[in-house]
Amino acid sequence: MRGKFISLEGGEGSGKTTAIHFIREWLDDQKIPYIMTREPGGTPLAEEIRQLILTPREEAVNDVTELLLVFAARAQHLAEKIQPELNKGVWVISDRFLDSSYVYQGKARGGDLAMLDQLANWVVGDNKPDATLVLDVPVEVGQERVVQRQHQDRLDKESLAFHQKVRDGFLERAKADPKRVKVVDASQSLESVKKQIEEQLAKLNKTWAGDC
Ligand SMILES: Nc1ncnc2c1ncn2[C@@H]1O[C@H](COP(=O)(O)OP(=O)(O)OP(=O)(O)O)[C@@H](O)[C@H]1O
Ligand SMILES: [Mg+2]
Repeated sequence: MRGKFISLEGGEGSGKTTAIHFIREWLDDQKIPYIMTREPGGTPLAEEIRQLILTPREEAVNDVTELLLVFAARAQHLAEKIQPELNKGVWVISDRFLDSSYVYQGKARGGDLAMLDQLANWVVGDNKPDATLVLDVPVEVGQERVVQRQHQDRLDKESLAFHQKVRDGFLERAKADPKRVKVVDASQSLESVKKQIEEQLAKLNKTWAGDC
């Protein structure tokens, strides 16, 4: 049986990477085979593209350039890692995926949504995640969490208004596709976030088992 594909989404410092650890524990408990991966990146070539996207630089990065780099990395990631693993029956958990493109390159940067749809259809097609968990926190909370980190990348350094658009964008994605996209209140304690995630995974797994 094909594995399930789950993506984690949310703004900087919302707790995606932390959530991945909780998912790992749940999958281990259920004895489900899985791999963890991330976007942009996930394969050696896609990780090189990630560096190109995130490195702070003097030269202005054109919005279309950023969009195409993200989708170039995604095409590689899907073909060389995600699809082969799902076909083997392995679950794939990705720290960010397609929703981030709609939110960052679309909503936050005001990118052309028709172009995004075209790229999404071309590069991702039917290979959307089976489920997406959006880690939602007020922008100030996310910012406080990342400020404590030493290394800040190009997107961490955006304005508060940009990060607010990012938060709104993810909530809109959840509203538009509530069957796939589930919101986790990540402003809560780590214990509560863990519990919310386990509840969502248990519910999803039950639905998927019923679909077979
Ligand atoms: N619910 C929480 N309560 C308190 N602190 C938290 C919570 N979730 C995450 N943190 C802390 O906030 C910081 C950022 O969390 P994490 O790295 O998981 O976020 P992220 O969404 O992966 O960020 P990025 O987008 O930058 O990768 C970490 O130091 C983490 O320990
Ligand atoms: Mg992270």
